[in-house]
This record gives sequence, structure tokens and C-alpha cells, in this order.
Amino acid sequence: ETGAALFTESRPDSLEAIAAGISACTRCPIGCNGTRAVAGEGRADAALMIVGEQPGDSEEQQGRPFVGPAGQVLRSHLAGAGIDPGQAWLTNAVKHFKFVLRAPSKRRLHQNPSAREIDTCRWWVESERLLVRPKMVLALGASAARSVLGKTVSVQKVRGLPQRLDDGAELWITTHPSYLLRLDEGARAGEEARFAADLAAAGARLRDLA
Ligand code: URA
Repeated sequence: ETGAALFTESRPDSLEAIAAGISACTRCPIGCNGTRAVAGEGRADAALMIVGEQPGDSEEQQGRPFVGPAGQVLRSHLAGAGIDPGQAWLTNAVKHFKFVLRAPSKRRLHQNPSAREIDTCRWWVESERLLVRPKMVLALGASAARSVLGKTVSVQKVRGLPQRLDDGAELWITTHPSYLLRLDEGARAGEEARFAADLAAAGARLRDLA
């Protein structure tokens, strides 16, 4: 069994219950790797829910989302777009850190979650959305988009084109900030500008909705 079929209990009735639930969750291989789960954080009644991919090395160590290098890139661009992350609900498609140990440094090297892992963890993200009831969901990258939509979409095709979710919330999809970190200097400026433009459009719309 996969995805929602692995969850036979009723939906968590609080964000605290979700934090406890993900810490104990062993429904996919990442949940069984012995790392700490990273819960969403922010305003429980946020108008904006930001969904990333998964905690990275720093997030796993600190137990908080978006506190590492990609989180810094995100936070600086949010500021540029007039979006206060303190007013948002920040979370991830996958709640545990998936990595391989790279010899000889033993650095923990990020690995992408599989579709199956995203689809399993999706029940938790849906539960968060049912509680927070955001007016806008901002999905960062393909894993986050799959988490929200339940299917794979091309980020490059749908970025900047908001879509309405079944509960009326608007979904905005853009790239993941760690993608910007991987680009060489030549490509980076252009991609940063596109990311900034996506966030600026989402920020302007969010102020309309609020
Ligand atoms: N990248 C993510 O997708 N989420 C985090 O929490 C940190 C980095």
C-alpha cells in the first residue's frame, strides 16, 4: 500500500498533533532513517502556506524549516517580494531528510524524495492545509507541486500561472531556491530574477486576497 491508504486513523485535529505524528511516522523509508522530523512552523491561521521539498542538513539539525542555505535564499527573496515569512505557514512536502553519506567527508548529501515518498507524506501536508486553511499555497519546486496536486507537473510550464485548488485556495508554483544555489554564475542572475518575479506576483496577489 502507498499514499493515503497507509493512513487509517482520522485526521490530526491540531498542528501539534501533526508535529507529534510526523516524528513517529515510519510509513516510508525516509521516516525510518533515524533523523528528526521537521514540522511546519509559523502562523496557524496564515493566509499563505509555503511548501518546500524536505528539510536539509541544517533544518534536520535545528528542527526548523528553511534555516539553511536554501532557506536564506528564500527568505531574502520573500523580503524582496514584501512577503513576511513570520506571517506564513512554512512547511515541506516530505518531513524527514533524505541523504547519502559521501565518503570521505561523511557529509550528508541531499537526495530527492521519490514520487512514492512524496505521495505518502502528502497526507500530512493535506492535514496541515485543512487546519491552516490558507488562501494561497506557494509550492517551491516539483516535489512540492506534486505534494499539493498529487501528480507531477512541469514547474517551468506552470510557474506564474496560479491555479485554484478544490478548497478555493490559489496554488502558485515556482522553482525551489536550492536550484538557484546549484547554478553557475552565468545562469544564476537570470534565474534569480525569474524567481524574484514569481514571488513578487504571488506577493501582490496575496495582498489582494488578504
Ligand atoms: N529546503 C526545503 O525544501 N525545505 C527546507 O525546509 C529547507 C530547505
